[in-house]
Amino acid sequence: MLEIRDLSLHYGPHLALDRISVAVGRGETVVMLGANGAGKSSLLKAAAGLVRPDPGADIRFAGADIAGRPAHLVLEAGIALVPEGRGVFGDLTVEENLALGAYARRARAHGRASRELVYGLFPKLADRRRQFVNTMSGGEQQMVAIGRALMSKPDLLMLDEPSLGLAPVVVGELFAALGRVRESGLALLIVEQNVKMSLSIADRGYLLEAGRIVGEDTAAGLMNDDAVKRAFLGATV
Ligand SMILES: Nc1ncnc2c1ncn2[C@@H]1O[C@H](COP(=O)(O)OP(=O)(O)OP(=O)(O)O)[C@@H](O)[C@H]1O
Ligand SMILES: [Mg+2]
Repeated sequence: MLEIRDLSLHYGPHLALDRISVAVGRGETVVMLGANGAGKSSLLKAAAGLVRPDPGADIRFAGADIAGRPAHLVLEAGIALVPEGRGVFGDLTVEENLALGAYARRARAHGRASRELVYGLFPKLADRRRQFVNTMSGGEQQMVAIGRALMSKPDLLMLDEPSLGLAPVVVGELFAALGRVRESGLALLIVEQNVKMSLSIADRGYLLEAGRIVGEDTAAGLMNDDAVKRAFLGATV
Protein backbone atom coordinates (compact mmCIF):
# COMPACT_ATOMS: atom_id res chain seq x y z
CA MET A 1 0.00 0.00 0.00
CA LEU A 2 2.88 2.37 0.90
CA GLU A 3 5.76 2.02 -1.51
CA ILE A 4 8.88 4.11 -1.10
CA ARG A 5 11.70 3.85 -3.60
CA ASP A 6 14.96 5.74 -3.85
CA LEU A 7 14.11 8.21 -1.12
CA SER A 8 17.04 10.48 -0.33
CA LEU A 9 16.88 13.49 1.95
CA HIS A 10 19.39 16.23 2.60
CA TYR A 11 19.35 18.79 5.40
CA GLY A 12 21.65 21.35 3.81
CA PRO A 13 24.82 19.39 3.07
CA HIS A 14 23.92 16.57 5.49
CA LEU A 15 22.63 13.39 3.84
CA ALA A 16 20.05 12.00 6.33
CA LEU A 17 18.48 9.36 4.04
CA ASP A 18 20.39 7.62 1.28
CA ARG A 19 18.22 5.97 -1.41
CA ILE A 20 15.85 4.25 1.00
CA SER A 21 13.33 1.70 -0.26
CA VAL A 22 10.58 0.56 2.11
CA ALA A 23 7.13 -0.96 1.66
CA VAL A 24 4.11 -1.52 3.90
CA GLY A 25 1.34 -3.79 2.66
CA ARG A 26 -2.38 -3.35 3.36
CA GLY A 27 -3.06 -4.28 6.99
CA GLU A 28 0.60 -5.04 7.60
CA THR A 29 2.57 -3.98 10.70
CA VAL A 30 6.15 -2.97 9.91
CA VAL A 31 8.82 -1.82 12.37
CA MET A 32 11.74 0.46 11.52
CA LEU A 33 14.63 -0.16 13.91
CA GLY A 34 17.60 2.15 14.17
CA ALA A 35 19.88 3.92 16.63
CA ASN A 36 19.70 7.64 17.48
CA GLY A 37 20.31 9.74 14.40
CA ALA A 38 19.84 6.85 11.94
CA GLY A 39 17.15 8.81 10.10
CA LYS A 40 13.98 7.16 11.44
CA SER A 41 12.06 10.37 12.11
CA SER A 42 13.25 11.82 8.81
CA LEU A 43 11.79 8.83 6.97
CA LEU A 44 8.38 9.24 8.62
CA LYS A 45 8.41 13.01 8.08
CA ALA A 46 9.23 12.57 4.40
CA ALA A 47 6.41 10.05 3.98
CA ALA A 48 4.01 12.38 5.84
CA GLY A 49 4.88 15.40 3.71
CA LEU A 50 6.52 17.32 6.56
CA VAL A 51 9.93 17.47 4.90
CA ARG A 52 10.57 17.54 1.19
CA PRO A 53 12.69 14.67 -0.14
CA ASP A 54 15.42 15.13 -2.74
CA PRO A 55 14.20 15.07 -6.36
CA GLY A 56 13.84 11.55 -7.75
CA ALA A 57 12.11 9.99 -4.75
CA ASP A 58 9.22 7.69 -5.61
CA ILE A 59 6.60 7.58 -2.85
CA ARG A 60 3.26 5.95 -3.62
CA PHE A 61 0.27 5.30 -1.43
CA ALA A 62 -2.53 3.06 -2.71
CA GLY A 63 -1.15 3.74 -6.18
CA ALA A 64 -1.17 7.56 -5.90
CA ASP A 65 2.07 9.51 -6.21
CA ILE A 66 2.47 11.41 -2.92
CA ALA A 67 6.17 12.37 -3.14
CA GLY A 68 6.56 16.02 -2.13
CA ARG A 69 2.83 16.44 -1.42
CA PRO A 70 2.06 18.72 1.56
CA ALA A 71 1.10 17.12 4.86
CA HIS A 72 -2.63 17.90 4.73
CA LEU A 73 -2.96 16.16 1.36
CA VAL A 74 -1.02 13.12 2.58
CA LEU A 75 -3.46 12.98 5.49
CA GLU A 76 -6.39 13.11 3.05
CA ALA A 77 -4.79 10.24 1.13
CA GLY A 78 -5.01 8.13 4.31
CA ILE A 79 -1.69 8.37 6.15
CA ALA A 80 -1.62 9.68 9.74
CA LEU A 81 1.51 10.35 11.78
CA VAL A 82 1.88 10.29 15.57
CA PRO A 83 5.02 12.41 15.87
CA GLU A 84 7.92 12.01 18.26
CA GLY A 85 6.94 13.87 21.41
CA ARG A 86 3.22 13.32 20.67
CA GLY A 87 2.15 16.88 19.77
CA VAL A 88 -1.05 16.84 21.82
CA PHE A 89 -2.68 20.05 23.05
CA GLY A 90 -2.16 20.05 26.82
CA ASP A 91 -4.63 22.82 27.63
CA LEU A 92 -7.46 21.06 25.79
CA THR A 93 -9.45 18.05 27.01
CA VAL A 94 -9.21 14.52 25.64
CA GLU A 95 -12.45 15.02 23.74
CA GLU A 96 -11.27 18.34 22.26
CA ASN A 97 -7.97 16.79 21.15
CA LEU A 98 -9.87 13.99 19.43
CA ALA A 99 -12.22 16.46 17.73
CA LEU A 100 -9.20 18.27 16.25
CA GLY A 101 -8.08 14.98 14.69
CA ALA A 102 -11.28 14.72 12.66
CA TYR A 103 -10.77 17.86 10.54
CA ALA A 104 -9.62 15.91 7.46
CA ARG A 105 -12.28 15.96 4.76
CA ARG A 106 -12.23 12.17 4.64
CA ALA A 107 -13.00 12.05 8.38
CA ARG A 108 -15.47 14.86 9.09
CA ALA A 109 -18.65 12.90 8.54
CA HIS A 110 -17.40 10.04 10.73
CA GLY A 111 -16.42 11.95 13.88
CA ARG A 112 -18.84 10.26 16.25
CA ALA A 113 -18.13 6.72 15.01
CA SER A 114 -14.37 7.32 15.05
CA ARG A 115 -14.56 8.65 18.61
CA GLU A 116 -16.42 5.55 19.75
CA LEU A 117 -13.81 3.40 18.01
CA VAL A 118 -11.01 5.27 19.82
CA TYR A 119 -12.76 4.92 23.18
CA GLY A 120 -13.24 1.21 22.47
CA LEU A 121 -9.52 0.81 21.78
CA PHE A 122 -8.52 2.97 24.77
CA PRO A 123 -11.20 2.57 27.48
CA LYS A 124 -9.05 4.68 29.81
CA LEU A 125 -9.64 7.70 27.59
CA ALA A 126 -13.40 7.22 27.70
CA ASP A 127 -13.32 7.56 31.49
CA ARG A 128 -11.28 10.75 31.19
CA ARG A 129 -12.83 12.45 28.21
CA ARG A 130 -13.23 15.80 30.00
CA GLN A 131 -9.76 15.79 31.58
CA PHE A 132 -7.15 18.32 30.45
CA VAL A 133 -4.41 16.46 28.66
CA ASN A 134 -1.56 18.25 30.50
CA THR A 135 -2.79 16.66 33.74
CA MET A 136 -2.47 13.14 32.30
CA SER A 137 0.42 10.68 32.55
CA GLY A 138 2.86 10.21 29.67
CA GLY A 139 1.24 6.92 28.69
CA GLU A 140 -2.24 8.43 28.68
CA GLN A 141 -1.02 11.36 26.59
CA GLN A 142 0.47 8.93 24.09
CA MET A 143 -2.93 7.23 23.84
CA VAL A 144 -4.54 10.64 23.19
CA ALA A 145 -2.00 11.25 20.42
CA ILE A 146 -2.75 7.88 18.83
CA GLY A 147 -6.48 8.44 19.25
CA ARG A 148 -6.26 11.83 17.59
CA ALA A 149 -4.39 10.31 14.62
CA LEU A 150 -7.05 7.59 14.33
CA MET A 151 -9.76 10.26 14.14
CA SER A 152 -8.55 11.10 10.60
CA LYS A 153 -9.68 7.60 9.52
CA PRO A 154 -6.25 6.60 8.20
CA ASP A 155 -5.45 3.42 6.28
CA LEU A 156 -1.85 3.65 7.49
CA LEU A 157 -0.86 4.86 10.95
CA MET A 158 2.79 5.85 11.41
CA LEU A 159 4.18 6.14 14.95
CA ASP A 160 7.50 7.75 15.88
CA GLU A 161 8.90 6.09 19.03
CA PRO A 162 5.58 5.76 20.85
CA SER A 163 7.20 4.09 23.88
CA LEU A 164 9.82 6.81 24.47
CA GLY A 165 10.04 7.82 28.13
CA LEU A 166 7.30 5.46 29.34
CA ALA A 167 7.63 3.00 32.25
CA PRO A 168 7.81 -0.69 31.23
CA VAL A 169 4.33 -1.54 32.48
CA VAL A 170 2.89 1.39 30.50
CA VAL A 171 4.84 0.32 27.42
CA GLY A 172 3.16 -3.08 27.74
CA GLU A 173 -0.28 -1.46 27.84
CA LEU A 174 0.57 0.75 24.88
CA PHE A 175 1.66 -2.13 22.68
CA ALA A 176 -1.40 -4.16 23.72
CA ALA A 177 -3.49 -1.22 22.48
CA LEU A 178 -1.47 -1.03 19.25
CA GLY A 179 -2.10 -4.74 18.83
CA ARG A 180 -5.83 -3.98 18.95
CA VAL A 181 -5.37 -1.19 16.38
CA ARG A 182 -3.62 -3.71 14.18
CA GLU A 183 -6.48 -6.21 14.61
CA SER A 184 -8.88 -3.52 13.40
CA GLY A 185 -7.21 -3.85 9.99
CA LEU A 186 -5.05 -0.73 9.83
CA ALA A 187 -1.52 -0.86 8.48
CA LEU A 188 1.12 0.32 10.96
CA LEU A 189 4.62 1.67 10.40
CA ILE A 190 6.33 1.96 13.79
CA VAL A 191 9.71 3.53 14.47
CA GLU A 192 11.08 2.13 17.71
CA GLN A 193 14.10 1.47 19.83
CA ASN A 194 12.06 -0.93 21.98
CA VAL A 195 12.84 -3.90 19.78
CA LYS A 196 11.21 -6.73 21.72
CA MET A 197 7.86 -5.02 22.17
CA SER A 198 7.61 -3.63 18.66
CA LEU A 199 8.64 -6.88 16.96
CA SER A 200 6.15 -8.78 19.12
CA ILE A 201 3.24 -7.12 17.26
CA ALA A 202 4.97 -6.77 13.86
CA ASP A 203 4.92 -8.80 10.65
CA ARG A 204 8.20 -7.49 9.27
CA GLY A 205 10.92 -4.99 9.98
CA TYR A 206 13.83 -3.02 8.58
CA LEU A 207 17.15 -1.97 10.07
CA LEU A 208 18.17 1.62 9.39
CA GLU A 209 21.77 2.67 9.94
CA ALA A 210 23.20 6.09 9.11
CA GLY A 211 20.48 6.79 6.54
CA ARG A 212 20.62 3.41 4.81
CA ILE A 213 18.53 0.26 5.01
CA VAL A 214 21.03 -2.41 6.09
CA GLY A 215 18.64 -5.26 6.89
CA GLU A 216 15.12 -6.49 6.29
CA ASP A 217 13.39 -9.60 7.60
CA THR A 218 10.30 -11.06 9.23
CA ALA A 219 9.73 -10.05 12.84
CA ALA A 220 10.81 -13.51 14.01
CA GLY A 221 13.91 -13.36 11.82
CA LEU A 222 14.93 -9.95 13.21
CA MET A 223 14.38 -11.12 16.78
CA ASN A 224 17.01 -13.81 16.16
CA ASP A 225 19.32 -11.64 14.08
CA ASP A 226 22.81 -11.28 15.56
CA ALA A 227 23.19 -7.66 14.43
CA VAL A 228 19.85 -6.77 16.05
CA LYS A 229 20.78 -8.61 19.24
CA ARG A 230 24.12 -6.82 19.39
CA ALA A 231 22.74 -3.37 18.64
CA PHE A 232 19.50 -3.41 20.61
CA LEU A 233 19.15 -6.36 22.94
CA GLY A 234 22.43 -6.05 24.81
CA ALA A 235 23.66 -9.45 23.64
CA THR A 236 27.37 -10.13 23.17
CA VAL A 237 27.04 -12.40 20.13
N1 LIG B 1 15.92 19.87 10.66
C1 LIG B 1 17.14 19.31 10.59
N2 LIG B 1 18.21 20.03 10.18
C2 LIG B 1 19.43 19.49 10.08
N3 LIG B 1 19.71 18.20 10.37
C3 LIG B 1 18.72 17.43 10.79
C4 LIG B 1 17.38 17.94 10.93
N4 LIG B 1 16.59 16.92 11.37
C5 LIG B 1 17.39 15.85 11.49
N5 LIG B 1 18.67 16.15 11.15
C6 LIG B 1 19.81 15.22 11.15
O1 LIG B 1 19.47 14.11 10.34
C7 LIG B 1 19.93 12.89 10.96
C8 LIG B 1 18.74 11.95 11.16
O2 LIG B 1 17.87 12.53 12.12
P1 LIG B 1 16.52 11.83 12.57
O3 LIG B 1 15.84 12.72 13.53
O4 LIG B 1 15.77 11.41 11.37
O5 LIG B 1 17.07 10.53 13.31
P2 LIG B 1 16.33 9.49 14.24
O6 LIG B 1 16.71 8.14 13.77
O7 LIG B 1 14.89 9.81 14.31
O8 LIG B 1 17.01 9.75 15.67
P3 LIG B 1 16.39 9.64 17.16
O9 LIG B 1 16.40 8.20 17.52
O10 LIG B 1 17.36 10.42 18.00
O11 LIG B 1 15.02 10.24 17.14
C9 LIG B 1 20.63 13.30 12.24
O12 LIG B 1 22.02 13.35 11.98
C10 LIG B 1 20.08 14.68 12.53
O13 LIG B 1 21.02 15.48 13.21
MG1 LIG C 1 13.63 10.34 15.81
